Amino acid sequence: MDAWLHSRAEVRERRGLQRSATPQGTVIDLASNDYLGLSADARVIEASTQALHDHGAGARASRVVCGTNQAHQYLEEQLCLLTGHDSALAFSSGYTANLGVLAALGGPGTLMIFDAHVHASLRDGIKLSRSPAVEVPHNDLNAIAAALAGRTQPRAVVVLESIYSVLGDAADLAAAAGLCATYDALLLVDEAHGIGVAGGGRGAVAAAGLAGSVHVAATATLSKALGSQGGAVLGSTLLREHLVNTARTFIFDTALAPAAAAAGARAAAIVREEPGLAAALLRNAEVLAQRCGVAPSAGAVQSVPVGSAALAAEIATELRLEGVSVGCFRPPSVPDGVSRLRLTARGNLTAQELDTGTTAVARVLAAANSAAENSAMASINHGKASNPA
Ligand SMILES: Cc1ncc(COP(=O)(O)O)c(C=O)c1O
Repeated sequence: MDAWLHSRAEVRERRGLQRSATPQGTVIDLASNDYLGLSADARVIEASTQALHDHGAGARASRVVCGTNQAHQYLEEQLCLLTGHDSALAFSSGYTANLGVLAALGGPGTLMIFDAHVHASLRDGIKLSRSPAVEVPHNDLNAIAAALAGRTQPRAVVVLESIYSVLGDAADLAAAAGLCATYDALLLVDEAHGIGVAGGGRGAVAAAGLAGSVHVAATATLSKALGSQGGAVLGSTLLREHLVNTARTFIFDTALAPAAAAAGARAAAIVREEPGLAAALLRNAEVLAQRCGVAPSAGAVQSVPVGSAALAAEIATELRLEGVSVGCFRPPSVPDGVSRLRLTARGNLTAQELDTGTTAVARVLAAANSAAENSAMASINHGKASNPA
């Protein structure tokens, strides 16, 4: 095993795919998902601290063993108030929410239709469900319609993200929900990057007027705009009851820590009461995109395609040395050939941070582009010299 681990590390190094979780320093953060800065909000921290004192450091067991704690109940109420869904069920993370709901809805009688760019947790959930599955090209409604029309299974689930985690673009939820209603299927929308961002913070499902529809359910994470940790499935009370009884990551996983639940609940209430937070985030996102020379996206995530995985890693390292942290997405986070930098805006970025951060990104990207052009030119010239006509 040791020799194999060494050989795997060598392959990663050679391909520019080595990852590390370097210690956090004082950098300008254009990489995290703390879109509204709520992880450090005094009110969120206070709610979390109070829950620690009231309920202890851990949830002690699964909720089917130890019951539902007040912090979980309050979180689920607040998520419903924010997003407009009838019902919510908290999980220990967004990842386990996705695994739980997909495995609980799947099986041989359910066709899973999923966008090519959905998150790893959704792909894993589909695999775990052992359902027949069709991957459709990104944002291709015709392909979704064709898969729904041709299905032989009695049930179907269409799996999308409201705002895609790496590309930063949006799904056409109204059109996808229309198809699901026509073909009697369920649209499952991962709102990880939509809640706190789209629809004045209420999420893209609410913005499209789809919360409460029997053909639409969603998953959420508390770990991004809500600044905490944990996840949830949002939908009908019937769906919630089904999950309490069948979702393995709800039944066989220790419940969400009460302090994380309370932080997420307080953050959800703040987002609902202060729609200006999401507006400030979107303003900063626009400035970030414009100054870094990329087309503005639908939310906080700005995506900058970079030729190779090695170049993406090089640029991210150089920026880090300049005190700017950006996301670097390489395989297996993205398919081969589409490595990219992922820049994220936050509503609480100061004008100075935005200025310094975007100046550094623009300069390093321009240098990388001109180095790539010079090397392309050199290889053309070299070709001419060695192949005289
Ligand atoms: C689209 C999407 N879904 C789910 C998750 C998982 O959420 P969590 O970090 O709460 O497990 C993420 C996080 O990276 C994500 O981007």
